Amino acid sequence: MNKKILVTGGLGFIGSHTVVALQEKGFDVVIIDNLSNSSLEVLGGIAQITKISPEFEKIDLREKGAVNAFFDKYQGIDGIIHFAASKAVGESVQNPLLYYENNLNTLIYLLQHLKQKETANFIFSSSCTVYGQADELPITESAPVKKAESPYGNTKQIGEEIIADTCKVTSQLNAISLRYFNPIGAHPSAHIGELPIGTPQNLAPFITQTAVGKREKLSVFGNDYPTPDGTCIRDYIHVMDLARAHVVAMERLLDKEQTNNYEVFNLGTGEGNSVLEAIQAFEKVSGKKLPYEITERREGDITAAYADTTKANEVLKWKAEYNIEDALKSAWKWQQKLEEEEKKG
Ligand code: WQD
Repeated sequence: MNKKILVTGGLGFIGSHTVVALQEKGFDVVIIDNLSNSSLEVLGGIAQITKISPEFEKIDLREKGAVNAFFDKYQGIDGIIHFAASKAVGESVQNPLLYYENNLNTLIYLLQHLKQKETANFIFSSSCTVYGQADELPITESAPVKKAESPYGNTKQIGEEIIADTCKVTSQLNAISLRYFNPIGAHPSAHIGELPIGTPQNLAPFITQTAVGKREKLSVFGNDYPTPDGTCIRDYIHVMDLARAHVVAMERLLDKEQTNNYEVFNLGTGEGNSVLEAIQAFEKVSGKKLPYEITERREGDITAAYADTTKANEVLKWKAEYNIEDALKSAWKWQQKLEEEEKKG
């Protein structure tokens, strides 16, 4: 009998790639998604890759009754990977209550359900945002969590605290928080990728949309930072590496390999690349010259962040296998696929 995993936000960018990785490892998957930032077409994309269409329930996790009804219907859930959340930094500043309600109430409802189970396995989608501008680079999991720069980042910090506090008094709850650095790229088949809804806030989709002609040029938000070329440095990790890490982490929980029932892991490549280096990498893999201009800094941006991945390498036995060029190449293939489909209408 296959283990069954609930993936909330499973039609989203990282969620959909994780569903594929879970299915390919023999797990049965049920997805909850409210389609607020995704599309049902992603379900077809997943099935095109794995030939298995995951079970899907359109539920808004803010509706506690709907959450309880789901668990009445699906009794045999062996683990939960919780991606469902609002994730736009800028939007969170404009609409904090949406972020606190959507990112925290939903987490609490899931944990309240898990507390009643004999054993529960829970993976939380967190972010390197919790570190703010770390004092030391590369960033380890013991780096201090700094005051969040946005309500979005705050919901990740508070979310981790809620899980840690619950695990302290709930020995049957086994949990892991995964702190992503900068997820980019797409599945090599180009059947799934980062669905661009509206104007992209993040660098990679803005680069590929500029290259395909949807955007006139990329704005590089500042080149006066204290870095070698003046632009910000980030740890860009291929979404395929990220997806695989979620499967490895869930297997750790299911196999009861934890020494402590709450653990935190950084997920990055361990390499830092500047914005200009990312542009150069893209131009190399795409053969396209990318039009860009240097503009003002973006409010809230930190200068540099890249991961110390020793803990994930040694404890999860997981290491990123792709580099930034691989990731940008897959992102470009996905963007070209989107463009073709748009032209077909
Ligand atoms: C990367 C770099 C920008 C766009 C955020 C969240 C993080 C996670 C990933 C959700 C920065 C520069 C960007 C552009 C640019 N989100 N940039 N022009 O801000 O590091 O992380 O997204 O989980 O939690 O904080 O990612 O891709 O927005 O920016 O120059 O048009 O690219 O200034 O230096 P960020 P990003």
